[in-house]
This record gives sequence, C-alpha cells and structure tokens, in this order.
Amino acid sequence: MIICPVCKSKMKKIERKYICENNHSYDVSKYGHVNLLLSNQKNSKVPGDSKEMVLSRKNYLEKGNYEGISNGVNKIVCDNLDEKSEINILDIGCGEGYYTNRLRDTLDALNIKSNIVGIDISKEAVIAAAKSYKGIEWVVASASSLPLEDESLDFIICMFAKIIPEEKMRTLKKGGKLIVVSTGEEHLLQMKEVVYENVRVECYSPVEDLNIFSHIETVNIKYKTKIEGQESIENLFNMTPYRWRSPKEGVDKLFLLNELETTVEVNIDIFEKK
Ligand SMILES: C[S@@+](CC[C@H](N)C(=O)[O-])C[C@H]1O[C@@H](n2cnc3c(N)ncnc32)[C@H](O)[C@@H]1O
Repeated sequence: MIICPVCKSKMKKIERKYICENNHSYDVSKYGHVNLLLSNQKNSKVPGDSKEMVLSRKNYLEKGNYEGISNGVNKIVCDNLDEKSEINILDIGCGEGYYTNRLRDTLDALNIKSNIVGIDISKEAVIAAAKSYKGIEWVVASASSLPLEDESLDFIICMFAKIIPEEKMRTLKKGGKLIVVSTGEEHLLQMKEVVYENVRVECYSPVEDLNIFSHIETVNIKYKTKIEGQESIENLFNMTPYRWRSPKEGVDKLFLLNELETTVEVNIDIFEKK
C-alpha cells in the first residue's frame, strides 16, 4: 500500500528501511515508525499536534471515557466487512493511535486479517503511537499528500481530523467506506458550561464537504461519562481546541474540580466511493 512520497513508486520494507523502485529509501525508527513527510509538505516548522497535546490525549484516552466512541466506530467497520477476509485500513490523523489500536484488536478477535496504516502529520503523535502499539504501520505524512497507492484501501477512518476529500477519493477502492467522526451538538456541554458564561451549541457536519462521496448514513452516539481527578479533567481540556481560546477564570474554575460528569456526543458519518 505504501508508496514513495517523492516518485510515487511502490515501496518494499526491507529490514529497517522502506525502499522504492527508484532507490529512494526511508529509515524505520527505533520505535517502528517511518517519516514520509517531505519538507515542502510541512505547513509549519512543527506541524500537527504538539508533544503536550499528544500526551494529554494519550493520558485521557487511556482512562476509557471515550471507549464508547471507539466501540461505535469498530461496530460500523465490522458491520461493513462484506465477507472480506483481509482488509486494508487507513486511520488518517490517527494521533497517538488509541482508536487505531482498538480497531485492530477488534478485527484480530474476529480473525479478520487487517493491514492498518496510521498517518499523522505530527511526528510526536506518530512516535507515541509507535511506542505503544505494534503491528500497525505508523507513518508521519500529510493528509493532503497520502503516500498510499491509488484504490488500495477498503476503509478510511477520519476521527476529529482534517477533511481533505481528493486524497481520500484517490486511495479508496471502489465500494470502499470512508468513516468520519465529528463532535455532536452536546459534546462536552457540561465542561463548556463551567468554562464559558454563554455556551454556543455548535456542530459541524462533513456531508457537504465530502459530496464527492455517496453519503450512506449518520450514526449518533451520545452518553454521559464521569471524569475523575483533576489531572484527567486537565488532560481532557488540553486535548481540545478550547485550550487556545478560553477565558482564564473559566479554565481556573474547571481545573479546581475533582470530578466532572459530562455528555459525550459524536456523529459518525459513513460514506462510500461508488
Ligand atoms: C483532534 S486530533 C485527533 C487525533 C485522533 N484521531 C483522535 O481522535 O484521538 C487531530 C489530529 O490530526 C493531525 N493533523 C492535523 N493536520 C493534519 C494533516 N494535514 N495531515 C495529517 N494529520 C493532521 C493532528 O496532528 C492531530 O493528531
């Protein structure tokens, strides 16, 4: 599945290197990931999520409060296997790999052979993923130039990450499914009520931006979760975009809490390449 980011020819993994047909080669790091992000594909000096955000997300997700989201995505993939015995999956904007790894575990438990690639533009995120989870190809690359063959993927998973339709269309097989997870209207409502005086209820639907695909359905997942301990509450807040734009008094109030019960709500949109 993985192609050379420079000449786009096929690559082989030989020991600790990826080598393409034109002899461009890329080292596999001691953690097990490969960096295929070219310098002209970087949108900043240090693209993507920072080390601090990655660590906050990792520590928060490991507590299990978002297991319900992960289970929802895994069920959709399993419901759409169509008797395939081997599937190729890309998790784009995979972060530190929590969801990618849980999907792999679910498929392994069903004896479904899966070739899974996790791609993120953040080197720190991919290193964290590679350190924690083996048996997945972890790649630093950009969603706007995927180092993957045309029509090679059965599923693309895109969770809370950038929507770049053209590359998804190019790399999905015909009949392949694109699964996009976005925050729902009441996602983290009670957390926002602590931080902001007036909470804006907002909800993005990717359906219009992805209108080159056929939209199959939207699955809503909504449940309450109890976040225990100041550290977990801080981790949750620091992994969201609210960390960049919230009033200090509100954040201070939130960080004094020892426990927070809040709604988790996501919409999972399923698309197909016809
Ligand atoms: C909100 S996080 C979601 C991470 C993971 N999917 C999750 O739900 O835990 C968004 C991720 O997208 C990555 N990202 C941002 N722009 C990207 C791009 N152009 N290509 C690939 N990844 C990107 C960030 O580095 C970050 O890890």
